[in-house]
Amino acid sequence: MAADNKMIALAADHGGFELKNRVAEFLQAEGYKTQDLGTYSDERVDYPDYGYALSQAIADGKAGRGIAICGSGIGISIALNRNPAVRAALCHDVTSARLARGHNDANVLVLGARLIGFEVALECVKIFLNTQFEGGRHAERVKKLGKC
Ligand code: RB5
Repeated sequence: MAADNKMIALAADHGGFELKNRVAEFLQAEGYKTQDLGTYSDERVDYPDYGYALSQAIADGKAGRGIAICGSGIGISIALNRNPAVRAALCHDVTSARLARGHNDANVLVLGARLIGFEVALECVKIFLNTQFEGGRHAERVKKLGKC
């Protein structure tokens, strides 16, 4: 069964908690369904737990796309990309968010909440969710990513 691209799984550690809530509000206002995998407060937690929860949701087809957030975006990216079903792209500008979809067929957008403002973060989300994979010469490369 194809994953539902209108279902967006969200995950963050304490560093990304506040931005995750803003992203969730934005997505719901735009008509997306969201699945919030935590964390649910700003109490200190470990980003791998949330990265792994999100990668499992993608691997299981429970969500077609994901948005993951930690303080820098780095730790949770590393956790996510350990799962071969995931192509997580850390983006802090709209060009990266567009290329992550167009060239890399990224299925998870990662944001670093301590490095990016709300406005730019929401622009990245918008572009990420509205850009199609270009296929063509990129398709073979993306296929190889699943073969390590
Ligand atoms: C938490 O303090 C911080 O280390 C985490 O959010 C993230 O930036 C790790 O890469």
